[in-house]
Formats: sequence, C-alpha cells, structure tokens
Amino acid sequence: MSQVLPSVTPNPGQPPVPPSTPLASTIARVKAGIDPWTIDDAADLYNLRGWGKGFFEISKNGQVLVRPTRTPGREVNLFEVVKGLRERGLRTPVLLHFSDLLHRRLQDLHEAFDTAIKENGYKGKYNAVYPIKVNQQRRVVEEVREYGAQYGFGLEVGSKPELLAVMGLTSDSPERLIICNGFKEDRYIEFVTLAAKLGRNIIPVIENLTELRLIVKYADKYQIRPKIGVRVNLATPGAGRWRHSSGVKAKFGLSLTEVIEVLEYLKSRGMEDCLQLLHCHMGSQIHDIRQVNSGVNELARIYTELAKMGAGMRYLDVGGGLGIDYDGSQTNFEFSTNYTLPEYAANVVYKIMSVCDEENVPHPIIVTESGRAMVAQQSILVFDVLGANRLDRFTVPSSLETVAKDEHGEVPRPLVDLYEAYNSVTERRVLECYHDALQSRDEAMNLFSVGYMSLEHRALAERMFWATCARVRDKAKDMPKVPEELTDLENSTSDTYFCNLSIFQSLPDIWAINQLFPIMPIHRLDERPTRKATIADMTCDSDGKIDRFVDNHDVKKFVELHDIKDGDQYFLGAFLVGAYQETLGDLHNLFGDTHVAHIRLDDNGNWWIDEIVEGDSVREVLSYVQYDANRLGQAIRHECERAVRDKHMSVAESNALVRNYEAGLAGYTYLETENGASM
Ligand SMILES: Cc1ncc(COP(=O)(O)O)c(C=O)c1O
Repeated sequence: MSQVLPSVTPNPGQPPVPPSTPLASTIARVKAGIDPWTIDDAADLYNLRGWGKGFFEISKNGQVLVRPTRTPGREVNLFEVVKGLRERGLRTPVLLHFSDLLHRRLQDLHEAFDTAIKENGYKGKYNAVYPIKVNQQRRVVEEVREYGAQYGFGLEVGSKPELLAVMGLTSDSPERLIICNGFKEDRYIEFVTLAAKLGRNIIPVIENLTELRLIVKYADKYQIRPKIGVRVNLATPGAGRWRHSSGVKAKFGLSLTEVIEVLEYLKSRGMEDCLQLLHCHMGSQIHDIRQVNSGVNELARIYTELAKMGAGMRYLDVGGGLGIDYDGSQTNFEFSTNYTLPEYAANVVYKIMSVCDEENVPHPIIVTESGRAMVAQQSILVFDVLGANRLDRFTVPSSLETVAKDEHGEVPRPLVDLYEAYNSVTERRVLECYHDALQSRDEAMNLFSVGYMSLEHRALAERMFWATCARVRDKAKDMPKVPEELTDLENSTSDTYFCNLSIFQSLPDIWAINQLFPIMPIHRLDERPTRKATIADMTCDSDGKIDRFVDNHDVKKFVELHDIKDGDQYFLGAFLVGAYQETLGDLHNLFGDTHVAHIRLDDNGNWWIDEIVEGDSVREVLSYVQYDANRLGQAIRHECERAVRDKHMSVAESNALVRNYEAGLAGYTYLETENGASM
C-alpha cells in the first residue's frame, strides 16, 4: 500500500514562537509571564542531542522531528505522522521505520571506512555484510540490499531459513558477499556448495570440525574449489553484555589449535588456498574502544600467521559489536560507547594494516558484520498514554475529628500520629516526620490485620502516609544536602503512566536484558513536564514496566512527563529500537505485532507513507495459539440464541453482542480508545 501525505504545516493553534536563541527566548518568556521553559530545556532534559546524533530535533512548537539525513529542513514531524496514521484508521502503538535514515547509516559506515582506508594508505578494500538476524523484516533487508549495492555491502546469515531468504533476495546480484555463520548440517553445506557452483560469492564459516569434513566432501562431489572461512575464539576476553560470544568458553568458533588442524587437513587435500577468511565476533554493543583494539590486534596476528603457513587468506572479518550510544553519554557505560564510528573504523584499519606490514602480508579485505549500528536508529515505537496513577494526589483532612472517629468516638492513634507528621514537615524535621509517618503507617497496618482498625481508617492512613511522603519529598528538594534515606522518595512517589503497549511484544530487550532506550514525549516539549513517572504496559504482568530511563549523568528511575487530564491525547516515543527486538517479541497476553509504517522523504522534503504493514488482528493471534476463531464465534452465537430462547436477552441485544464479538476478532489487539483517560 502506498499513500502520500501532505507536507508538514505549522500548527496554527500554537502560541507565537519565542525568539530563537535559548537566552533571548527565556528572557522573552519571563517578560511575557510565560513559564521560561524552552525546547532546549526539553532537549537537555531527555539528552536528545546526545543520543540523537543529529537524527532527531525538537520543532519550535515542541514536537519531535526526525531528520533522516541529518539535514535541517529535511525532517519529519512525529506527531504529524501519528495524526496522519489516525486519519487512515491506524492507531498507536505503531512502529515507524525511516528508510532514509537507514540509508544514511549505511553511508556513514561506508564513509568511515573509506576515509580510514584513504588516510592510512591501506591497500585492501572494505566490505560490510549485514547480519540479518539483527532485523530480519523483509523490508529492512531489502533496503540494506538496495542502498548497500553502491558500496558492495553483502549479507550475513546464521541459520538455514536466513540463508534461503538471502539467496532468494540476491538472485540478481551474485557478486554480493554472503557469509554463512552458525551451525550447519549436511544439506545446508551441500546447498552452499551448489550456490558457489552457481556463481555466488558465498563463504561458509567453519564453526566445528564436522563442518570442515562436509565442505570437503561436497567440494569433491561437485568439483569446485570453495571459499572457506574459519571462526576463531580469541584469547582476548570479550566485551560488554555479550562478552561470552568470545573467549575459550564461547559457544561458537574454534580454538587456535583447531584452526591449525583445519589448515593441516586442507593442506593434506591440497585445498589450503580455499581457506580465505578468518572471522571472530567479540560480542555485541562493545562499549570500550580498547576492547576493539586488542581483539583486532590478536585477530590480525592469527591472520598473518595463517597466511605465512600457506593458507589462501584474503578476508579478515572482525564480526559485529560496533555499539550505539543509547544514553548519549559517549562513555564506557554498557549502553553507550566511548568511541565514534570514524574512530572505530580508523582503529580497525590501522591495527590490521600495522600487523600486516610488520609481517609482510598483503592487506586483506576488511569485513565487518555490524548490525546494531546499521539498523537501531531507523525505528521508533510510538505509543499512547491511557492514564496515570499518582501517589502524591492525596490530601489530608483539615480535621480528623469529623472524619476519623472509631465506634468508641476516638480517632485511632496511628491516624493522629500521621496527621501530626504531615503537619509538622519542615526542613529541620523532614527526616523525623518521614520516620514517624513510616512507623504510624506500619502500626495502622498491624491494627487492621488483627481486626482493630476499619477498612476506611486503613485507607485514610495510606492516603495520609503518601501525602506526608510527597510533602517530605518537596521539602527535601530545597535542602542543600538531602539525607540519604530520602533520596529514593522521588522514585517511590513517582506516578505510574499506563501505556497502550506490551513490553514483551514491542520492547522485549527492556524486560530480558534491562536494555536502556531513550523514551520521551513526542509533543508538548515547549511545555515544562511537571510529573515524574514510571511506565506500565497493558499486560497483566508486573514485569511489564519500565523504570530505567536515560539521564545526563546516570540512569534515572523515572522519566519527566506532562500532566494529563481526562480526554488528553499524549504520545510517547521509544527511540533507537530497530535492532534485535522486532523478531524477539512474544505474545504475552496475546498482544500481537504492532502496525508498522515505513516513512520516506521526497526530494522537496515532504514526508509520505511508503508502506503500511498492519499489526496482528485478534483473529490472527488466536490462530497462532491454535484457536479457530470461527468455532469460537459459533459458540458465542449459540449461547446468545439460548439466552434469547430463555428470554434473558432480546434479539437486538443478542445481535449487538455477536456484532461486538466479531468486530473484536477483526480488530487490533491493543486498546483502540479515542483519547487517554486519567485513572
Ligand atoms: C556472528 C555475529 N556477527 C554479527 C553480529 C552482529 O553484532 P552487532 O549487532 O553487535 O553488530 C552478531 C550478533 O551477536 C553475531 O553473533
């Protein structure tokens, strides 16, 4: 489906735009009696310019812009896209793909290595391959194939289904390099051998010695001299969360002794010239450049030794691992990187070149298998907020006498103490009042559990406790040094914003590996966010929450959001979500795939929707778990007819129920509300 949308127009309902420099804007706003909050404050708060790397900005009217080519003026307003999709009947949550951004990333990668090669006088070439496991969606792989053609980029596969998909997608470009990693059985290797005979530039990478014998067997059978690769486990310890992808206990790859055995075996068959590629994978999201340097150094040394021992070495494959700066801190933190892409490329090229020069070995074709760095930034998940739960919304009655007397005409002691604690919060007594509130709340709970306090009084105790905590928290904010015990109050009194998404389906890495993604509102950014919140999803699972957010200095347990009222539409975006997650998501509570929209920019800078892939319907997710929706519908119809027969229901009511059920089966698995509603 291909639909063209009108270009973005400024929102006529917005207040006049303040002057453009941050200081001038602040002064003008103060003079006009407007909150001196600016879009620059918003950009700082969410560190958007840190992790955005020029791909994201905020418009003057406070909406997030995507600049797929990093060019100011060539931009897509996310809020306008959400509105445009709604006009077409497509609701949030929706995953937005920016094809031009993906194109730009491939260009970045090519340019970084091209520059490093030219600056160092490197005599070999650079050949990236995209590991399709990082995002296997057909559209993404097709785009990598299309945009990568001019740079000669190839594809990497890790399984038989991936290989079969890639073979079909590259039938018109047999020269594109295909690297086959992962475990391979007899039929797989026979297929790879025949593909090589067909004229494909395909290299199976040996992960164990059985594969070697199969490669030799089929090379004999089909009379070809295959290109062969070998994956080695480096002694250099791996890096980052996936450091066990490398090292002696790694699941894949051969020890150095086994690599030499491979060469000896090939020599014994007169096939040593077939061993052309050396590969390693040091782990994903490598955050420290020193790790890259020592790994590549060791790999280059093994490469030169193999070349000198007579192998036909031509390719040095440094694997994946090029990281993404998810929090924008550009540090040695696991969700950041302490290096840039040009620095990575320069180091890889320089290390390989210096080792090869030292050993008098020709410079190899450098292969990278960077996946995350190609595709993470092109996807944004946009979802709506359904409502908020605020723990600091409670008030304390002006007098307890009228509302809190028990059957003996007395106010229970814990309530009196909580009342006093609340009313005595001062800067000097914050800690004392907090302790009093904690103790009185516990006493109230104990009295309730032994039957000496009513449900109403227990509820009142809870409300007064949270009101006291909020007061203590606000008072502590003004203190030069906040007592340690109170530092967590900001987190424990933060709101919960209930959002229309399933973390297990759309952001599974948050649940599985505590991944940090930038999450922020996509509009209202010209307005100060006044609430601090964690995010809860729609699943009935307490793990379905987000309580780690990007911070300028650390990881925050809440994100600053805007106050929402009944009927408000409020949208959040999770950014940099394009790597790994799309095929990992699961059907927890039967929330299915979200809609996906592919957004492009035309030559005039207007955006349009290139393709919409509708998310799962309820009928579809039910079929995934072996339900027959037609039979379910029949059963409901039958039950309704019985109710009509027994006069529990009118025919009109029965029709309404059946229609509703059928519309539900055809509908989206997420909530399809018009607006948000405070809870
Ligand atoms: C063999 C191999 N190559 C490449 C990659 C891609 O790594 P990244 O996305 O970190 O670049 C992986 C991922 O783990 C891998 O296992």
